[in-house]
Amino acid sequence: MKLKQLIIKNKIEFNKNFRELLKKKLDKSSLSKAMFYASINGGKRIRPFMVSQASKIAKISKSDAFIIAASIECIHSYSLIHDDLPSMDNDDFRRGKLSTHKKFSESTAILSGDALHDLAFELISGELKNKNLKSKIKLINYLSLCIGHKGLALGQILDLEFENKKINKKSIIEMYKRKTGKLFEYSFAAPFVLANLKENEIKFAKEYGLLFGLIFQIVDDLIDEIGTFKKIGKTPGKDFEQGKSTLLKLLGKDEVIKFCLNEINLFKKKYNYFLKKDSLIELLYLGIKRIN
Ligand code: IPE
Ligand code: IPE
Ligand code: MG
Ligand code: MG
Ligand code: MG
Repeated sequence: MKLKQLIIKNKIEFNKNFRELLKKKLDKSSLSKAMFYASINGGKRIRPFMVSQASKIAKISKSDAFIIAASIECIHSYSLIHDDLPSMDNDDFRRGKLSTHKKFSESTAILSGDALHDLAFELISGELKNKNLKSKIKLINYLSLCIGHKGLALGQILDLEFENKKINKKSIIEMYKRKTGKLFEYSFAAPFVLANLKENEIKFAKEYGLLFGLIFQIVDDLIDEIGTFKKIGKTPGKDFEQGKSTLLKLLGKDEVIKFCLNEINLFKKKYNYFLKKDSLIELLYLGIKRIN
């Protein structure tokens, strides 16, 4: 099966299980309704696909892979609710529908983001079947590090602080690695951590996920510029309008694509040994090709 078809197949299966899980966990409160609205609504589910690919390599069970993926999508959805708030990117649309603060209220959006963040930890600490307590604690600690004051949250504040300023290439890349890269790093490396694989294998998985995330954000910026609302489901042209410091603005389209290709080449050279599975490299190139 082609990689693109595999991604769609994985998305369909993930969505079915995720919906069931949330129905079991959530209730009829307005908080639950907003949490459901923000997480069951047509995301591409790329992070769950990364988890499924890594889980096959690390040989963890399908049910544990699902719990990891579900907790990641809770974190991802929380980050999008907050990213769209008026005090952040101020976007009225997400995944083709009203963003959570527009559909409900700003306070509901903030709190449903908080509660989705917490639900991720409820899942990862309470629902894994793996018996190795030590690696489970490692996994929870690793997730905290990837999304907090050195990870996603730091990246998000840097993104806002960098608006309308001249920021150099290195700092933009660092910001991207945090706001987007770290959660992708976790998505690919988490199964390796849970399976308690060797340090060098975990290092490979982390670098692979981080690189995918970096490319993903660079391409997200390109799509922001050239995409249509119908295609991306969020307001296009916002980065320019808001004076975001993007690699695209600094280098131009051709150079950013060259940059991504060069990063893939460097990675291939470094990890030649691990990369016997061609589909992993193909997935990196697919990250660039999604421009079209
Ligand atoms: C959007 O992520 C935010 C970024 C990190 C660029 P996705 O493009 O994965 O969003 P969904 O889940 O498919 O809506
Ligand atoms: C968001 O980056 C990264 C997050 C951690 C949510 P963007 O602000 O570019 O994401 P979009 O374009 O709104 O999806
Ligand atoms: Mg943003
Ligand atoms: Mg945004
Ligand atoms: Mg964007």
